[in-house]
Amino acid sequence: MATELIVALDYPKAEQALELVQAVRSQKLDVIWKVGSELFMASGPEFVRKLTQGGGRVFLDLKFHDIPNTVTKAAAQACELGVAMFTLHIAGGSDMVEAVMKEVQKAAKPPIVLGVTVLTSFDESGWKKTAEAVSGQRPQGLISDSVSRLAAAGAHWGLTGIVCSAHEIGRVQKAAPDLYTVVPGIRPAGSNAQDQARILTPAEAAQQGASAIVVGRPITQAAKPVEAIASILKELASA
Ligand code: C5P
Repeated sequence: MATELIVALDYPKAEQALELVQAVRSQKLDVIWKVGSELFMASGPEFVRKLTQGGGRVFLDLKFHDIPNTVTKAAAQACELGVAMFTLHIAGGSDMVEAVMKEVQKAAKPPIVLGVTVLTSFDESGWKKTAEAVSGQRPQGLISDSVSRLAAAGAHWGLTGIVCSAHEIGRVQKAAPDLYTVVPGIRPAGSNAQDQARILTPAEAAQQGASAIVVGRPITQAAKPVEAIASILKELASA
């Protein structure tokens, strides 16, 4: 399967996002639209519905983490909106993940449920402090060990996908080989890394077997966003 392109619609207003969506649609380019907390808070489910009813594929990135009943109800709403994939925190636990997986099976076309392991904003010391607060013990091992364990647990509980950073693809594929891997932290050669620390180019991520890459600012802040998308799609196709 060719690596797919997910475009992060990280805009504060629906109008800006829709402008890009319409321009891309008119060029018949095949991408998935990521709607995260900022745009969702500004524009709500109606914006998502507008995309899905227009035939768009949507990745709803709200990273659910709550009691099983609440997350299951949120998952049912995501299915009703017709999203192609959405995220939850694997740390929400087996009951939460299993209940969600049972719920999404009721949909005519079940979305891919993507687990989040350890947020990439954590450094080793911040993660140790948090893990110690949870378990009462200074944890053994590194963030990467927690990522592998959470990925394997998520897969065991029935998740169908996972979000992992560029440098975690191999490790995650080893721990949970069947998951759809969504990889942010991607920068086309020559573009600004901004706050992404460990980056891969689209071709490198494709060569490592990413199912999909997430690209935001190199597209949304480009002088010609549609051309930026076309060029990434070309790079993925020839990787
Ligand atoms: O602009 P940029 O390409 O860095 O955007 C990447 C997108 O992927 C953003 O929406 C960001 O929130 C998201 N993301 C990330 N790193 C993660 C998880 C999600 O950059 N570990």
